[in-house]
Amino acid sequence: MSLTSYKSCYCGDIREENIGEVVKLSGWVANVRDLGGIIFVELRDRMGVFQVVADPQINPDVHKVFNKLKDEYVVTVSGKVSRRPDDTYNPNLATGSVEMYPESIEILSESQVLPFQLDDGDNVSEDVRLKYRYLDLRRRPVLDNLVLRHKVVSAIREFLNGENFLEVETPILIKTTPEGARDYLVPSRVHPNKFYALPQSPQIFKQLLMVGGIERYYQIAKCFRDEDLRSDRQPEFTQVDLELSFVEQEDVINLMEKLIKKAFAAGGIEVNPPFIRITYKEAMDRFGSDRPDTRFGLELFDVSDIMAKSSFAAFADVIAKGGIAKALKIPGIANYSRKDMDDIRNLAISFGAKGLAWITYCEDGTIKSPILKYLSEAEIAEIQNRADAQKGDIVFFIADEAKVAYDVFGRLRLHFGEKLNLIDPNKNNFLWVTDFPMFEYSKEDDRWSSVHHPFTMPNLEDIDKMKTDKGACRSIAYDIVYNGVELGGGSVRIHSSKIQKEVFEALGLSEEEIQAKFGFMIDAFKYGTPPHAGIALGLDRLIAMMARTESIRDVIAFPKNSQAKDLMTDAPAFADEKQLRELRLQLKQVHTH
Ligand code: AMO
Ligand code: AMP
Repeated sequence: MSLTSYKSCYCGDIREENIGEVVKLSGWVANVRDLGGIIFVELRDRMGVFQVVADPQINPDVHKVFNKLKDEYVVTVSGKVSRRPDDTYNPNLATGSVEMYPESIEILSESQVLPFQLDDGDNVSEDVRLKYRYLDLRRRPVLDNLVLRHKVVSAIREFLNGENFLEVETPILIKTTPEGARDYLVPSRVHPNKFYALPQSPQIFKQLLMVGGIERYYQIAKCFRDEDLRSDRQPEFTQVDLELSFVEQEDVINLMEKLIKKAFAAGGIEVNPPFIRITYKEAMDRFGSDRPDTRFGLELFDVSDIMAKSSFAAFADVIAKGGIAKALKIPGIANYSRKDMDDIRNLAISFGAKGLAWITYCEDGTIKSPILKYLSEAEIAEIQNRADAQKGDIVFFIADEAKVAYDVFGRLRLHFGEKLNLIDPNKNNFLWVTDFPMFEYSKEDDRWSSVHHPFTMPNLEDIDKMKTDKGACRSIAYDIVYNGVELGGGSVRIHSSKIQKEVFEALGLSEEEIQAKFGFMIDAFKYGTPPHAGIALGLDRLIAMMARTESIRDVIAFPKNSQAKDLMTDAPAFADEKQLRELRLQLKQVHTH
């Protein structure tokens, strides 16, 4: 049986049971070794490598061609599979006990010397690898990540198809999606001065699919967000995007737990739902983060009540103004030097703290602290009790606005978790964070915005607070967090035009703005809208975490670098004059490229 005209099987698939068979193989020359006239070539294709040999005594014609072979030439060979002599077995290779002395060989294409050695790829700068990504893809670790991605996506599709979901594509040239990042804009030639936006997510369309009666939608969807890049953010990325009608939060969570179990199983990782659930408030109070890494302890605790009554003015004043005082106990570091403590204080300040106070519980039983002088014996005892502080511990304190205190301690907690090696990399800790706030206030912009997006259902208990106390209004939104990373988020949606309008108003949008931006959506909701809810998982993050790699670039075939550039095609690039003229765009600065 033949796979194609060029190969009867894959190099990497040949085993001892194929000995004696005549096969035709095609692939790349992974390396050539000339051992005193006998030439050994490792032939590579997507499934692996296989050794082919030429000996002037055995296959002299083939040997002549072997003499010309260089790394990465593409060749096709045919011949009989034979057993390797015992002393040349390679136990590290699936094909390590077999080889072939080809009867024929043809060079299909030659290769220049590569800009980097493939087997040295891990030591090559990422920029070089991204410029020659098509070569990088020939490396096993890069290929393995794409294989993993394919397997996981297949498992997700299979699962959702089995649950009656329809895979529907939504448009890329759209109006705008209010996910909170900057839009990528595409100028319209046909409609001068007008722009399409690229979707930050399929959010609006998937909700309109629910109005359209699709009931269960999914899409492996490309999303575009013009935001500052980090190792877990790309300007274009992929979501596993879902929306369901006639469901509540509970239904979405149950379905997702099944999906996640299947997806991880496809990557060989066993996870066991149901996952823990905590509210946003609890996550902040205990971990200082809405995506807590629960693979280790080090939980924060509150000392606002103690500090409020103390004579420590710096703290008492903050609390009197509505702030909080939080504390974090780190065991076993009481021997830290003056410099160590300065470094930690500076780290806290770089995270946004105004200062960092501490109490050290020395090994000799004494207590040292720059703030001891401000605290009564009863207060000191109460702190020690609440912290359950032992000899060797240090308890840190921060008084600030809640947001700052949480954020700084959230990050300090991670710092110590890593520094003290408290994180077990083999743990798979999932948790749901629920009851997110509906709105957040931005001091810079002096306005309220949606924490999730403006189509998220407010908690019906809090609906009156949309007018009176926006900060206290909870939404029916949930995030799935995996080992401290926000893997996905979703919400129950508003399905009443009345509530939707109230939310837009709470966000300070005028009637005209609402009409201009979302008029079509409010209109759509007037024609019989089912209750609906959904979620989107960051596929790149999911795969990166399953592959245990730091950067989502490692699991994307052609990623952008950290400056949002595609180093291979050199995008973004200047447009030519004619294109700009057709789009009626004029550049402010003249570039000479
Ligand atoms: P959200 O904005 O939370 O929700 O996005 C869902 C998930 O997408 C991933 N993600 C990213 N991954 C890589 N690069 C980025 N720049 C990036 N931005 C987000 C994260 C995130 O958890 N429409 C809603 C979902 C819904 O309500 O159904 C949405 O897009 O893993
Ligand atoms: P002082 O005696 O005023 O210098 O303050 C004693 C300690 O409290 C110092 O270590 C400061 O860094 C710390 N400190 C002051 N303000 C804060 C704050 N808002 N949060 C945490 N620590 C603070």
